[in-house]
Amino acid sequence: MLKSVILAAGKGTRMKSDTPKVLHTIFDKTLVGYVIEAVNNTGLADENFVIVGHQAERVDEYIKENYKNARTVLQSPQLGTGHAVSMVLPFLQDFEGEVVILCGDTPLITSETLKEFVEYHRENNSDLTVMSAIFDNPTNYGRIIRGADNRVEAIVEEKDATPEQKGVNEINAGIYCLDWKKVKPAFSQLKTNNAQGEYYLTDIIKWGNENGLSVNGYILKDNTEIYGINSKSNLAEATKFLNQRVINKHLTNGVTIIDPSATWISPETEIESDTVIYPSTYIEGKNKIGKNCKIGPFAHLRGGVILDDNVKIGNFVEVKKAHIKSNTNACHLTYIGDAEIGSHVNIGAGTITANYNPLTKEKSKTIIEDNVKIGSNSVLVAPVKVSEGANVGALSVITKDLPAWALAITRAPLRVLEGWVKSKIKK
Ligand code: UD1
Ligand code: CA
Repeated sequence: MLKSVILAAGKGTRMKSDTPKVLHTIFDKTLVGYVIEAVNNTGLADENFVIVGHQAERVDEYIKENYKNARTVLQSPQLGTGHAVSMVLPFLQDFEGEVVILCGDTPLITSETLKEFVEYHRENNSDLTVMSAIFDNPTNYGRIIRGADNRVEAIVEEKDATPEQKGVNEINAGIYCLDWKKVKPAFSQLKTNNAQGEYYLTDIIKWGNENGLSVNGYILKDNTEIYGINSKSNLAEATKFLNQRVINKHLTNGVTIIDPSATWISPETEIESDTVIYPSTYIEGKNKIGKNCKIGPFAHLRGGVILDDNVKIGNFVEVKKAHIKSNTNACHLTYIGDAEIGSHVNIGAGTITANYNPLTKEKSKTIIEDNVKIGSNSVLVAPVKVSEGANVGALSVITKDLPAWALAITRAPLRVLEGWVKSKIKK
């Protein structure tokens, strides 16, 4: 099993935020979370080291809470990317496998690419493999310098590059795979004699060549995978890239998406074929949507949503943590949270499951069985159960469980005062 080292100690000044850069989110998942999960999903790694510096405590707390096979290592002060990786030396004294190095601010890297990258490293009997990419505009990236035999000789940073080297458009993507035992000695030999006065991780390439290691380059196919986040504008752009990727997958799988540019679907949402997603729908978190459903326009699924087949979630309907069985409709202006809803249920316009008690901060469940009809503008005050076939009259507030096939209605009786209006009009 290999280990990963994820660099995340940098400040992220350009985010202009009190939140550490790698804790910013795309679809509710942090940037560093995406990177850790990409590594974990390769199935090749058993431990992730996240190098932290700025606001280290916050990142540490987050990692501890969310990722069991990840731990943070403090780098203070931050003396460069090579220095950052050297922080794991005490933890990997006797480790003999591979170490993959990544950045915490490139959330779009996929586990498929990482897997292919490590396979490439293994198949070529490489000791040190760097991921590269071909960029039309390579400015600010480290350039990959190849020798006459096309072998990777060195990486030269923009600030240290000669005009000729600046013309190279193969750049360092910042992802490396190392035979740890062989490359480890490099970290105690890095120097700071460069334009930025830092310990450059990139110098391990030259070191490897000088020390008789096999050094190779793997060229990335989809450049968006190493898109780095340095600003809120980058964050918005990355969200778009990720969304496009997700939407293309669903379109390929037979989901109809009327307007991909106005639809947002989180990567952890599964959707079966022939479901139609109407514009201005926003789907975040982990969800499972069946066949032939109709979602939107203007629907909001907030995670933990399971829809069986033929479910309709219409405009201005918000759903969170709910299982809705087949052929059930909630077509307009509704909130469904912490609910289990049977099949052939009709949820009238304006229905609310009141699942949250702000005084106790507790959430409670609403259970609605098959064939129930909920009249418009009703409030179901959870915990509450509406048994099979029961009907709720419009404008009712349901505060206790309803037996099967009952009618429940809390509305004041209608009074009709004939001629009342005319009697009030002054002659
Ligand atoms: C680095 C590479 C460059 C490559 C680019 C890809 C070096 C010297 N250069 O440049 O060749 O093209 O990434 O994006 O490695 N970090 C720490 N501790 C430090 C310094 C940095 O954890 O002391 C982290 C940062 O938080 C960031 C990552 O390392 O996540 C990269 O650092 P950054 O300064 O952005 O490197 P670049 O200058 O972009
Ligand atoms: Ca830098």
